[in-house]
Amino acid sequence: MTTPDFSTLNQGNIVAFIGDIFDRCGDAEYLGEPVTMEQHMLQGATLAERNGLPEDIIVGALLHDIGHFTSEFGTFAMDDTEDRFHEEAGARVLARFFPPVIVDCVRYHVAAKRYLCATRPDYFNRLSEASIHSLHLQGGPMSAEEVQAFERNPNLEKIVQVRYLDEASKDPDMETPDYWHFAPMVQRIVDQTLAADSASATAS
Ligand SMILES: [Fe+2]
Repeated sequence: MTTPDFSTLNQGNIVAFIGDIFDRCGDAEYLGEPVTMEQHMLQGATLAERNGLPEDIIVGALLHDIGHFTSEFGTFAMDDTEDRFHEEAGARVLARFFPPVIVDCVRYHVAAKRYLCATRPDYFNRLSEASIHSLHLQGGPMSAEEVQAFERNPNLEKIVQVRYLDEASKDPDMETPDYWHFAPMVQRIVDQTLAADSASATAS
């Protein structure tokens, strides 16, 4: 596989580029879960859409694990290990095209699990076996200080919503539309984000 040059990605090709990742790599195993990566991310987006949640949550759920595919963006390092800091890698590649709320939903979806385990006793029971296993690797439930710091994030509510969708998206039998159903929504958000960025650049 040739590694694309991330600098060639732009407003006109990023949505198709992500779609191509879904199409070519989506059937990768989602470690320890009975669904593929593609099913997992599409289920989150579909559940959000069916529940009438806002577009930033739908797209946050759709892209929250995109960091598992960062070699597609040319950011892979040889010392990366499976699942290690995929949330940070994903957030970094999305930050050029998506608003801070979506980037935060991606960046903090692992931290949100640690947060919810510390603050909502019923949440732990929702975790799959694989998710409990990775919780331990990720540092276990947050400490009181970590909880306090996490709650300062203005996007906390949406980060938590995406985390609940993440947990709910491991159903081997759920039917979903494919990525291209969501592509116009993804494009709309990219267009809004870049328009807002260029407006603020012009103003400053
Ligand atoms: Fe996930």
